[in-house]
Amino acid sequence: MHMRDLSYLFQNNRTWAGRIRQQDPDFFRKLSRQQSPGYLWIGCSDSRVPANEIVGLLPGELFVHRNVANLVVHTDLNCLSVMQFAVDVLNVRHIIVCGHYGCSGVKAALEGERLGICDYWLRHVQDVRVKHHAKLFGLKKESDRYDRLCELNVIEQVVNVCQTMIVRDAWRRGQEVVVHGWIYGLDDGLLRDLKVTVADPNDMAKACEAAVGALG
Ligand code: CO
Repeated sequence: MHMRDLSYLFQNNRTWAGRIRQQDPDFFRKLSRQQSPGYLWIGCSDSRVPANEIVGLLPGELFVHRNVANLVVHTDLNCLSVMQFAVDVLNVRHIIVCGHYGCSGVKAALEGERLGICDYWLRHVQDVRVKHHAKLFGLKKESDRYDRLCELNVIEQVVNVCQTMIVRDAWRRGQEVVVHGWIYGLDDGLLRDLKVTVADPNDMAKACEAAVGALG
């Protein structure tokens, strides 16, 4: 096969579309008219963490934003635009920040590894590391610190989501938006709820504190 030939991906695509049409001949036609996903997923770009598959949702059911280390940065117009569209236009009820154990971005931030331009982006994970320094470095095993930083990073990104004007305005006008923090295990394919669920601006600090506390 020629290096430039990706025809097998087109073959995969035809098989996939055919399989869905077999179950529902009108599936794509209906979907092409409108989308009304119930959830916004903010996850890592890692190829091992495919959003729709993990939660068993079909096209049309999950609005997705992914970047390295599932970060929500207040100056990131890309993520903010996705969030604004999801909340204001699509009226999603749930925003899920999903991190994962074994995240290379988190590892690089933990070890201060130099990767290149990505280092600027991962500074935001280093900020999480600095903020929770005592908690992290109270752990003896390096692998525990790594897991813990993956978890803490999710919790801090949930806080960032809650602090955006997009979510605060939605809450102010009485729109129901629930923010969740989850983490995915690469080695077992399972999600864990970090129990940092926020549905109200007054819940945020307490929920975040409790979730960090529950990590031990
Ligand atoms: Co990752």
